[in-house]
Amino acid sequence: MEKALNAQIRVEAESSQVYLSMACWAEIKGLEGIAQFMYKHSDEERMHMLKLVKFVNERGGHAIISELSAPDTDFGTFQKMFEQLYDHEIFVSKAINELVHVTLTEKDYATHNFLQWYVAEQIEEEALARTILDKINLIGNDKGGLYLFDRDVQMITVDSAAADPGA
Ligand code: FEO
Repeated sequence: MEKALNAQIRVEAESSQVYLSMACWAEIKGLEGIAQFMYKHSDEERMHMLKLVKFVNERGGHAIISELSAPDTDFGTFQKMFEQLYDHEIFVSKAINELVHVTLTEKDYATHNFLQWYVAEQIEEEALARTILDKINLIGNDKGGLYLFDRDVQMITVDSAAADPGA
């Protein structure tokens, strides 16, 4: 179980790096709102990682801070970047589901209970990513739409997307 939790610590840390790299790409392209959104998202992933770190250490294990894979540095277009974000969240959801599976096979119900927060969080993160992709599809290649999207995207949070997935 500890090994599986440590693997998830790495997944969350790498997620934080991926979104930090997306923030940098958006920032140098002048997409200030998208950059702010990605910086915030990167911080959230670090929080997900820290929550796991503390849980492992408090339960008598040893949270391992490992080296990380380098994220991409070029994301092509902002549309492609958000598609990549969505795919990444699907990947994280699968990792969390695998982890929950391990808790059941090992009858580790304390960890099972702890992981429910992550299960709920992933539902919200996927909803958030889908909400954003829907908005992007509406914009198409309209420059004015991109201007408004860049202005508004920093206001979209996991909570607002979960409350109104169709927004
Ligand atoms: Fe920590 Fe976005 O998953």
